[in-house]
Amino acid sequence: MTTLAVGVDIGGTGIKGAIVDVASGELTTDRIKKATPEGGKPHDIVAVAKSIVEELAPAADVPVGVCFPAIVRDGKTMSAANVSKKWIGFEAEALFEKELGRSIHFVNDADAAGFAEQQFGAAKGKDGLVVVTTLGTGIGTALINDGVLIVNSELGHLEIDGHDAETKASFAAKERDDLSWKHWAKRLQKYYSTLEALLSPELFVVGGGVSKHHEEFLPLLDLQAPIIPATLRNNAGIIGAATLAAQSKPQA
Ligand code: BGC
Repeated sequence: MTTLAVGVDIGGTGIKGAIVDVASGELTTDRIKKATPEGGKPHDIVAVAKSIVEELAPAADVPVGVCFPAIVRDGKTMSAANVSKKWIGFEAEALFEKELGRSIHFVNDADAAGFAEQQFGAAKGKDGLVVVTTLGTGIGTALINDGVLIVNSELGHLEIDGHDAETKASFAAKERDDLSWKHWAKRLQKYYSTLEALLSPELFVVGGGVSKHHEEFLPLLDLQAPIIPATLRNNAGIIGAATLAAQSKPQA
């Protein structure tokens, strides 16, 4: 039985894909990365995703998982925080399937990344509630309880002090406001304390590209639960999308 699956991770700046061995969580090909087209409109993004899958050239029976930065319900994208508003209420999965000529498994990007960390990374085998956050253009969140993913948590948009949390505490907000690590950590402290008060998780995992600099800011945070860096970094979305696709029931 093959354990291969394709993962495609769509983001506001880049679209990445690779073939993954879902038994080990390892990439079996180089990662292909292309720029997200200006404006982030549905047909343009799907065209880039298609070109990546074509380059990877998976066999016809290899499952394909695609993850995307929006609420995903029944294959539709229901929000659009950092992509074109045209995605709101859009039949996204159907368009990907039509253009790719095969069925896909379509999920939120943070859910995919969080699931990958639970299966293969920083939260591997961890029981109880794990909260995985991705700090990037926005803040993505994934809740995994005893290994079960609770989808579409969207806790990056918690309202804190009258603001959408990701507009203050994402990595993009750090860059936009030219914050030092220390100053950014104050905003992160408020954000993670709020999450902790609401959810009392066993563990926080922090992903996103900035997690490679975790020594600069994680030690500044004071929480009851441990808060640790993600280990799969920028491949987490690809690995999670592929793994979820492989684990989902084949579509008729
Ligand atoms: C979106 C989420 C996404 C996160 C990370 C947020 O703005 O609402 O759906 O998971 O960004 O990309």
